[in-house]
Amino acid sequence: MSGASRGVPDASGLPGRPGWGTQAAMARATPTFHCTACGAVHPKWTGRCDACGAWNSIVEEAATGPGPARRGARGRVMPLSGLSADEPPPPRRTSGIGELDRVLGGGLVAGSAILVGGDPGIGKSTLLLQGAAAFARAGLSAVYVSGEEAAAQVRLRAARLGLADAPVRLGAETNLRDILATLDAERPDLAVIDSIQTLWHDAVEAAPGSVAQVRAAVHDLVTFAKRRGCAVVLVGHVTKEGQIAGPRVVEHMVDCVLYFEGERGHAFRILRAVKNRFGPADEIGVFEMTGAGLAEVANPSALFLSERDRPAPGSVVFAGIEGTRPVLTEIQALVAPSSLGTPRRTVVGLDAARLSTTLAVLEARCGIPFAGMDVFLNVAGGFRITEPAADLAVAAALLSAREDIAVPADTVVFGEISLSGALRPVGQTENRLKEARKLGFKQAIAPLRSKAGADGGMKVRRMPDLVAFVGEMFGAG
Ligand code: TYD
Ligand code: MG
Repeated sequence: MSGASRGVPDASGLPGRPGWGTQAAMARATPTFHCTACGAVHPKWTGRCDACGAWNSIVEEAATGPGPARRGARGRVMPLSGLSADEPPPPRRTSGIGELDRVLGGGLVAGSAILVGGDPGIGKSTLLLQGAAAFARAGLSAVYVSGEEAAAQVRLRAARLGLADAPVRLGAETNLRDILATLDAERPDLAVIDSIQTLWHDAVEAAPGSVAQVRAAVHDLVTFAKRRGCAVVLVGHVTKEGQIAGPRVVEHMVDCVLYFEGERGHAFRILRAVKNRFGPADEIGVFEMTGAGLAEVANPSALFLSERDRPAPGSVVFAGIEGTRPVLTEIQALVAPSSLGTPRRTVVGLDAARLSTTLAVLEARCGIPFAGMDVFLNVAGGFRITEPAADLAVAAALLSAREDIAVPADTVVFGEISLSGALRPVGQTENRLKEARKLGFKQAIAPLRSKAGADGGMKVRRMPDLVAFVGEMFGAG
């Protein structure tokens, strides 16, 4: 391998990548292989991508390699500047749908590119039609391009949602060139493209939805957004592994990645920011799918706890934080003798690896074995928790189920468990306690070193480690 092929720009001015040297550039376009998970380029097909380790993710595509190398061409010297600047914060426009505006970081930034992913049928089109209508009613010019549904279908939905009179310009098209020409002529403030998998670029020889097509379409649309200051919202399908179909690079190309999630059979939907260049990531917006579209849920804790009645063994309320906002959820556990050689560990809404860790810590540090028992763990209502702060609530639910002792109904639990069995303090204790108190809880169980003061009228029982917690709550250990 020559020195020029290691990330150093070669004479052609292109970043040196294996296979991008002058030899390859002179050759005709040969097929290359892309990993659909990470976008890495491979010279030949293999079963496993050595860049990201994904199996069966490599697909063949006709290469659109660099043009002939311009030998001797030199780059232009670009101006550099310092870090201090009096740039005003980017202007934002709000839709009036509070849950949407918050997830966007406080409103829509002009010229930003936003990717919205989610399972089919979860309500992406509904959300974005409502969003486009709200922005249009707030004075923005908005264009909605549907590549999946005919214009008549979208109009029917708009009528059903009571949005028929909103000044949204609607088009049904999949040809990227035509879409860009239309947007260029129309100069909207907001363009919604539903979805990127249906678009095709006539200069790219690959089927719609393929990595090359999706990447080309996103690239052109993001470039358009920056050039014209138009906020572009792209809908992306999610694969069964839960990632936006197409290469991961698509997520790197946009400013903001939102996932629209929810369980079938439950009416509520969560819009979750996983990346946001203009606001906090991990922010969530909560909606409820009704007969007349998505309705905002102003108090998600009340919704998630609404099905809870009397205290039952195995049920514990976790005081969590999602983005900037506290959310209380109920964690439920069931522990039963197993008839299987390898007992079942079924987790819904939490990380399975963290359950294994918590079980191991309970066994090793507190001497409470779960061997020979099936363990089922569930977040009520279909919510998904990613915070490690849920560890202690999970342990409490497991112990409560195993010992058949209910945790008092007026108690919330939070804290991270370390492998040593110690309880680690978690952030935003004050916000967690405030929310719990607002919903009528009286007592909290938290790690010892949680920030003192501002308990806000709650009785806070601070515990140093899991052994102390088990002893106090379940009289064992
Ligand atoms: P849709 O927005 O088409 O989902 P996506 O674009 O993510 O595929 O939503 C489809 C589902 O939403 C469908 O199952 C019906 C339901 N729905 C309602 O319950 N109420 C409504 O007002 C609308 C428009 C849809
Ligand atoms: Mg749709």
